[in-house]
Amino acid sequence: MLSRTSLCVFSFSAIVLVTLLLTWRRLGNSWATFSEPYYHRDAYKSQQTLQGAGSHGGQPMGNKSYSSHPKSPQGHPDIKLNSICNNFPDTSNILLVMKTGASESFEKIPTQLLTLLKCLPDYLIFSDMDQNIAGHPIHDSLSTVLPKVKEGNIDFDIYNNQKACVVDQASCNKMGDSATDAWILDKYKNIHMAERAYAMKPGYDWYLFADADTYVVWPNVAEWLKTLHPSERHFLGSLNLINDVWFAHGGSGYVLSRGMMDDFVGRNPGIANRWDEVAKEECCGDFMFSKAVRETSMKNVSQAWPTINGQKPSTIPYGPSHWCHPIATMHHMNSEDISTFWDFERRCTHRPLLIRDLYLHFFAPLLQPQRTAWDNLSDEIFYLDMDNTTHPAREWDKKLLERAKPRNRLNEYEKTAHRSAEDCAAACRSVSYRECFQWRFRRGQCGFGTAFVLGEPGELVVVSGWDVERIQAWVEYQGECERVLWPEI
Ligand SMILES: *[C@@H]1O[C@H](CO)[C@@H](O)[C@H](O)[C@H]1NC(C)=O
Ligand SMILES: *[C@@H]1O[C@H](CO)[C@@H](O)[C@H](O)[C@H]1NC(C)=O
Ligand SMILES: *[C@@H]1O[C@H](CO)[C@@H](O)[C@H](O)[C@H]1NC(C)=O
Ligand SMILES: *[C@@H]1O[C@H](CO)[C@@H](O)[C@H](O)[C@H]1NC(C)=O
Repeated sequence: MLSRTSLCVFSFSAIVLVTLLLTWRRLGNSWATFSEPYYHRDAYKSQQTLQGAGSHGGQPMGNKSYSSHPKSPQGHPDIKLNSICNNFPDTSNILLVMKTGASESFEKIPTQLLTLLKCLPDYLIFSDMDQNIAGHPIHDSLSTVLPKVKEGNIDFDIYNNQKACVVDQASCNKMGDSATDAWILDKYKNIHMAERAYAMKPGYDWYLFADADTYVVWPNVAEWLKTLHPSERHFLGSLNLINDVWFAHGGSGYVLSRGMMDDFVGRNPGIANRWDEVAKEECCGDFMFSKAVRETSMKNVSQAWPTINGQKPSTIPYGPSHWCHPIATMHHMNSEDISTFWDFERRCTHRPLLIRDLYLHFFAPLLQPQRTAWDNLSDEIFYLDMDNTTHPAREWDKKLLERAKPRNRLNEYEKTAHRSAEDCAAACRSVSYRECFQWRFRRGQCGFGTAFVLGEPGELVVVSGWDVERIQAWVEYQGECERVLWPEI
């Protein structure tokens, strides 16, 4: 016999069961509808194709008719890609070759994957270890380094330790100075990356080499490269100087045309191994890369700065040298910087994106007369306390003394510029904008900058200031950029 309580429990359970069944059916149906574009086999496949990353083997992809945006090649529109990659340019003839290291890859690559890499049809990521980040292969660029160069070479300790790590790299790296070790190992990569990219993905018109903290403004890159002939030998970058030798700065990114790759890599099998031994003695991979191209192919880097740029919106020195120039790359962009800029780019319809636009969006709203504990590195002209009047006696650094304005050329305000932040600001106002847009004061030392930079938090004792009126007047006087200044190659 069923008791009243059991009956109650039974009927309650039955009701709950029926309700659950009905709800499950409804939810199940809607889930199925919602999930279809993402879990449908073909859609998955097309997403793989879109995101490339090493799955194409050696097929030439440089065919301009191979266009995969924003629809996937199979014709399955991907809702997410469609909205995020809206207006993304056709980059199908450009291969991005990105460089990272196992000690930083999980910190830097995921944001790239969520933003810039998401809309690229194809790319390669090289590192100092084979890895896989959420399904995206990362290739060990050092696997082809000569064994005799690796053996007994302390530069490769981190390379071996990384492979021996049985947990995550971050935990294994807690003890040592992995950033420094990874930086030293980094110099062996560049030429191997070029050689491997050429072998794995031949036939592209352009190969753009960049770091994981490089931001590539693809619409500008695509538009700019359209004006150049890929069959000619082009090596484009931002020139830097080490020991009186010019080279293309790697963090800013550099571009080699098909003609250049054919000449440098194609005609010189084993070129990377020829430089393995040399790398031991060199400081950096980008420096050595330019040296190898110069010595092998007799080709110097063409200056593409400031369009190819090693700064980011907060450190670009805005002003006469950085204004109507389109921006193609930026460097030292951390995950937050990349995400912020990506959002800005999605909302920005202005083409081409100019450095002026970055000023207007990222700096102008933050312009104010003064910030304390802030460093904009105004360091072009110095006014130093030479009489030990404002603080205990000290010797000034030689670099500062070299940039100190000669005492016999100082006006009344400049003579006292070193006394206080107010004096430094007044001295800035007393000279022309060609000498001062902004200033920085620390005890006994006043520095001027001839460009305007937002800068970054600095030591507590550092005060930075901007001549706001002067900057705004200059900006207004420039007006819109009627002539866009692309690099002259
Ligand atoms: C490139 O596209 C053209 C036109 O669609 C086609 O005929 C050709 O076979 C393609 N080449 C490659 C290498 O895919
Ligand atoms: C490259 O630049 C250096 C230094 O300016 C110069 O001496 C050299 O002749 C140049 N080489 C070529 C191939 O243009
Ligand atoms: C300031 O102090 C330094 C360090 O003691 C000294 O060498 C220098 O002569 C002093 N300068 C003057 C003008 O007294
Ligand atoms: C500070 O400003 C100067 C130009 O006045 C520029 O060269 C430098 O890169 C700036 N530094 C930072 C961190 O903003």
